[in-house]
Amino acid sequence: MRPTDTAQTASGQHCDTLAVVTGTSRGLGAALAHQLLGPAACVIAIARQESPALAAQARGTGARLHQLTGDLSDPAQLQRLCDEMIAALPARAERMLLINNAGTVAPIVAAEALQAEAIHLASQAMQLNIVAPMALTAAFLQASTGRSQDRCVLNISSGAGRNPMAGWATYCTTKAALDMYTRVLKQEQAALGVQGARVVALAPGVVDTGMQGEIRAADPAAFPALGRFQALHADGQLSAPEHVARRILAYLARADFGQTEIDDIRNYD
Ligand SMILES: NC(=O)c1ccc[n+]([C@@H]2O[C@H](COP(=O)([O-])OP(=O)(O)OC[C@H]3O[C@@H](n4cnc5c(N)ncnc54)[C@H](OP(=O)(O)O)[C@@H]3O)[C@@H](O)[C@H]2O)c1
Repeated sequence: MRPTDTAQTASGQHCDTLAVVTGTSRGLGAALAHQLLGPAACVIAIARQESPALAAQARGTGARLHQLTGDLSDPAQLQRLCDEMIAALPARAERMLLINNAGTVAPIVAAEALQAEAIHLASQAMQLNIVAPMALTAAFLQASTGRSQDRCVLNISSGAGRNPMAGWATYCTTKAALDMYTRVLKQEQAALGVQGARVVALAPGVVDTGMQGEIRAADPAAFPALGRFQALHADGQLSAPEHVARRILAYLARADFGQTEIDDIRNYD
């Protein structure tokens, strides 16, 4: 699909903050994009579906929004989305952010059941949760060099990448890989001195999104911790995406962003 611009095209313009956010059609990514869309911002939003709510907000505020649609788990579409993201970058921005947020928890099955359809889903999850952030980060870093003094990459990780959870072999593995990727990236970027980007893999806590609904709908035989997640929801323990997004954006604005490359937003309660 062709990218859709609302208000002005992001490319060729100057803006205070340029933010590329993936997974913006719902959940945490939608909340992040809504809060980033201000008069002096350019937002490049990536998901399989456009968000009419984001488009309406941009029209109302005059903010620069560029929505790119495609499947990040498909290698050919991922390459196209990287190219379209580069084409949409403004010539210059005070600050440039890439938030790799899109992700999937599927398939929720025992490791010994990872065959047939489940292994196909696992392969898509590897592409979406780890290959897409790596490709988008590479494209973002190469294309943003010299366009901004302040470049940040935030990978939305999970406690699941740091603690094993039965039934989540794929999800835990991809988030652990995202953490290690972030550590390597930090080493490389730190070697560039002030030219290097600041990078963090951040766990957002338990957020009330469609992903949590999917978790609560899992087969109890495949996911022994199901009752715990159902109780968290029943007891009102899930954080609202808008609340978590506000805290993440405050975290991104910290002067020490990037010093702790493996982090958890709950450390800042
Ligand atoms: N919710 C939690 O409790 C929780 C906890 C820890 C970590 N996280 C992490 O936080 C991030 C956001 O999660 P969420 O809870 O907001 O998830 P969500 O509600 O399931 O939303 C996922 C977003 O990713 C997009 N997406 C999914 N598959 C895609 C694909 N193949 N290509 C392009 N975009 C795709 C979806 O849009 P489309 O369907 O339109 O493509 C949607 O906008 C994820 O990385 C997740 O692992 C969440």
